[in-house]
Amino acid sequence: MATLKEKRTCGQRCEDFGRFVWNSDDGTCMGRTPEKWVYISLYYVAFYVVMTSLFSLAIYVLMYTLDPYRPDYQDRLKSPGVMVWPDTYGEEDIEIFYNTSDKASWMKMSNILHKFLIPYNDTHQHGCNNFNCTQGMYFIQNSFSGPDHTKWACPFMQSMLGNCSGLGDPTFGYNSTMPCVIIKMNRIIDFLPSNHSDRPPYVNCTILDGKDNVDKIEYFPDRGIMDMSYFPYYGKQAQPTYVNPLVAVRFSLVREKQAKIQCQVVSDKISYQNVHDPYEGKVIFYLKAVK
Ligand SMILES: *[C@@H]1O[C@H](CO)[C@@H](O)[C@H](O)[C@H]1NC(C)=O
Ligand SMILES: *[C@@H]1O[C@H](CO)[C@@H](O)[C@H](O)[C@H]1NC(C)=O
Ligand SMILES: *[C@@H]1O[C@H](CO)[C@@H](O)[C@H](O)[C@H]1NC(C)=O
Ligand SMILES: *[C@@H]1O[C@H](CO)[C@@H](O)[C@H](O)[C@H]1NC(C)=O
Ligand SMILES: *[C@@H]1O[C@H](CO)[C@@H](O)[C@H](O)[C@H]1NC(C)=O
Ligand SMILES: *[C@@H]1O[C@H](CO)[C@@H](O)[C@H](O)[C@H]1NC(C)=O
Ligand SMILES: *[C@@H]1O[C@H](CO)[C@@H](O)[C@H](O)[C@H]1NC(C)=O
Repeated sequence: MATLKEKRTCGQRCEDFGRFVWNSDDGTCMGRTPEKWVYISLYYVAFYVVMTSLFSLAIYVLMYTLDPYRPDYQDRLKSPGVMVWPDTYGEEDIEIFYNTSDKASWMKMSNILHKFLIPYNDTHQHGCNNFNCTQGMYFIQNSFSGPDHTKWACPFMQSMLGNCSGLGDPTFGYNSTMPCVIIKMNRIIDFLPSNHSDRPPYVNCTILDGKDNVDKIEYFPDRGIMDMSYFPYYGKQAQPTYVNPLVAVRFSLVREKQAKIQCQVVSDKISYQNVHDPYEGKVIFYLKAVK
């Protein structure tokens, strides 16, 4: 068997390498003549220039076709999700549990609501959404007639939540057994919740468990209606001052003072049956008051 490789000394290897870097016999440098090096460099320069141009062109075309006023890839959601505040969770469910005689306990709930309502401060809404909206109909805007090339947004004020606004009773009823919760429906760009202008979406809460423990359910604004003038939503850039309409619900707890409750936003274009999204169109929570 012949050895595949000759054993070479270190000196010989260095010499080989030297010859590779500059071979004076055929005038090559690292295996190529200087002339070839110039060609290959030019080739690569041209190659990268072309690649960069193509890339820039693609980005430019993409940017050019993007409408800054709406996301290109909207969420697949076609029906909005619904949330409840105070958003306090137990193991996995929303559990609004509090102790009427423990100030720290009910303050925690009322503080969550006060914080949540900061953008709805009447003074603030008067300042930033100073537009007289016509109630009871969609506020369709085809032009950008608001300040700084925006669209108008209708004001929603804390005071519209009446006895659940936190203005008259800063505890939102949590120092007693008449707690308020606030229901919010997520915004979806261009979504119109109903085909019929005389049927605005409204919140309907039902007691799933503990019917006897809930004496009365009150809605604010009246009948739990989300006025049509808050729809459609045109996106953050078009309507930077938009606020979601809210509905507050007050439950009068009696007897065992606990219940499993479902609040649903009812409208002909809102669905509830999505098994993959339990919050679609509705929210389920546990409410419990102890002494
Ligand atoms: C509620 O709070 C009061 C006062 O802190 C306390 O004495 C009572 O044990 C609490 N009730 C429950 C069920 O934890
Ligand atoms: C609303 O904002 C005004 C001015 O910033 C403030 O004086 C007022 O206390 C706020 N109202 C509430 C309920 O937080
Ligand atoms: C809205 O109406 C009120 C009272 O009718 C008026 O004082 C106010 O200037 C109006 N605002 C706008 C933006 O038209
Ligand atoms: C708000 O509460 C007060 C006092 O409890 C009551 O008289 C009034 O009718 C309530 N308002 C509404 C709209 O329920
Ligand atoms: C709860 O707080 C409100 C407002 O501070 C007060 O009017 C009411 O009497 C309180 N209720 C109880 C049961 O302490
Ligand atoms: C609402 O309108 C759309 C399109 O106009 C129609 O396809 C749909 O069936 C209507 N839905 C109801 C409940 O009327
Ligand atoms: C609220 O929902 C319940 C149960 O789905 C239903 O029986 C009731 O009629 C609804 N109320 C309104 C006002 O839609």
